[in-house]
Amino acid sequence: MNTDWDALTYGTRWSGIYDGLPWPAPDDAVDFLHKLAGDGPALELAIGTGRLAIPLAERGVEIHGLDSSQDMIDKMRQKQGGADIQVTLADISSFEAQPDYSLAFLVLNTIYALQTQEQQVSCFRSAAAALRPGGYFVVEAFMPDPTRFQRNSRAHVLDIGLDHVLIEADKHDPSTQQILEQHIHLKNGGVELFPAFLRYVWPSEMDLMAQLAGLRKVDRFGSWTRDPFTAQSGLHVSVYQRPEQ
Ligand SMILES: C[S@@+](CC[C@H](N)C(=O)[O-])C[C@H]1O[C@@H](n2cnc3c(N)ncnc32)[C@H](O)[C@@H]1O
Repeated sequence: MNTDWDALTYGTRWSGIYDGLPWPAPDDAVDFLHKLAGDGPALELAIGTGRLAIPLAERGVEIHGLDSSQDMIDKMRQKQGGADIQVTLADISSFEAQPDYSLAFLVLNTIYALQTQEQQVSCFRSAAAALRPGGYFVVEAFMPDPTRFQRNSRAHVLDIGLDHVLIEADKHDPSTQQILEQHIHLKNGGVELFPAFLRYVWPSEMDLMAQLAGLRKVDRFGSWTRDPFTAQSGLHVSVYQRPEQ
């Protein structure tokens, strides 16, 4: 698919409303990541507005972050505890960090924000190089579901009221595993568009990316509370490890 999308687009378009979106409560993810972080430090790829990083820091984990969007980072800086987190402006598709981290993590489908397989593989390699031996890389992503689309497109009402309607419209390209999506907010007084462009990955392809980066898969769950990953799972939380040797 041809778009003008780049590493800054998400933050530019979504930062103004991001913290008001109905995200799941962070507690289960924070519990999960806290256990794996050990003595830290931990590195969040695409830290955004600090939804998970701030509560993790509050539990005493030293946490650093990467993000391409100054707009998103600025939102985090305004929150209590957000100004103390060390963040580097960087593209997660290729970055360099000291191999000091006990944990690196990339949540909320953001591996899919990298639109090519090359960028995704490169992200895995960069994350692996940031881990100390025995360190973990955790990825949370939705399970691809091509049956959501009819003839590779879809329109779906997400919310409706007397004075507004929120519609999600998608175009799917199964040959590249890409989805271009618009959240169309129609309300009295106008229309707002919130776009997303992503490349989804099957878990098996993700495991191969990890292998190419020298990581081994140690766990895969269907939720942050460690439910089994099954054919019914809507998402997976995958845990990869840099070997000790
Ligand atoms: C869905 S938000 C997730 C933020 C945060 N991890 C959370 O859980 O709330 C996606 C984030 O990825 C960042 N992002 C998108 N593409 C990126 C890229 N290529 N490099 C670095 N950050 C990127 C955006 O700026 C945004 O902050």
